Amino acid sequence: MILEVDKLDVSYGRVRAVREVSFQAEAGSLVAVIGANGAGKSSLMNAVAGLLKPKSGRVVFDGRDVTGWPAHRLVRAGLVLVPEGRAVLGTMTVAENLQLGGWNRRSSLKASIDELYSRFPVLGERRQLPASALSGGEQQLLAIARAMLATPRVILMDEPSMGLAPRAVDEVFRVIEEIRSTGTTVVLVEQNARRALRAADTGYVMEVGEVAHSGPAGELLHDQRIVHAYLGLE
Ligand SMILES: Nc1ncnc2c1ncn2[C@@H]1O[C@H](COP(=O)(O)OP(=O)(O)OP(=O)(O)O)[C@@H](O)[C@H]1O
Ligand SMILES: [Mg+2]
Repeated sequence: MILEVDKLDVSYGRVRAVREVSFQAEAGSLVAVIGANGAGKSSLMNAVAGLLKPKSGRVVFDGRDVTGWPAHRLVRAGLVLVPEGRAVLGTMTVAENLQLGGWNRRSSLKASIDELYSRFPVLGERRQLPASALSGGEQQLLAIARAMLATPRVILMDEPSMGLAPRAVDEVFRVIEEIRSTGTTVVLVEQNARRALRAADTGYVMEVGEVAHSGPAGELLHDQRIVHAYLGLE
């Protein structure tokens, strides 16, 4: 297991957003986390990524207890979040956003950025434009590319397909599968539950702050309770 989250609790004052949530990710696997609005998915991701301090529980990354580490330290260690809503810096250019993603790198950042431009030509062509000039799908690619420049071993993605047109959703899922195929572990939070479970090895379903179901993604896809509540008819 490259990531083990054990009984994590996250609160905002008296609101207990995440209650004793545990999940594991095997190295190289894709783990999907699904659940309704307000279930606590983002709170969970933000706590794992060091943006929020959990009230209790543990996060073990690559055998080390990293509970309470700040985000920048986790990024250096190889645990990187692509936050909900993308968080690209709109007034900065595409190139500048990418350079920021590589802040933890000592060398070869330029070569890596050039490589990303050939992998995502749309970013290469627009490298001198402000990020705000990109479409939603292009901004999401930029956010993912920026996270990849930190050379993560585990990448957490919080609703990367949110608000995107169908073709951009396809592209985002293609990129996620590609990242996973290179051996990077992916934890994917998605509203697009069926699609996420189809791409995943393992799935977790959150309901009001807790894990209500979990298991091999293929089994969850056929679990009538989950089909009924989260997947619906195709
Ligand atoms: N900064 C905050 N202050 C107070 N309460 C918050 C804060 N952020 C989230 N919450 C509450 O915590 C709970 C979980 O929210 P969270 O954003 O983690 O859910 P989510 O599953 O990511 O939802 P969504 O699908 O809408 O993104 C909700 O009840 C929410 O209102
Ligand atoms: Mg969320």
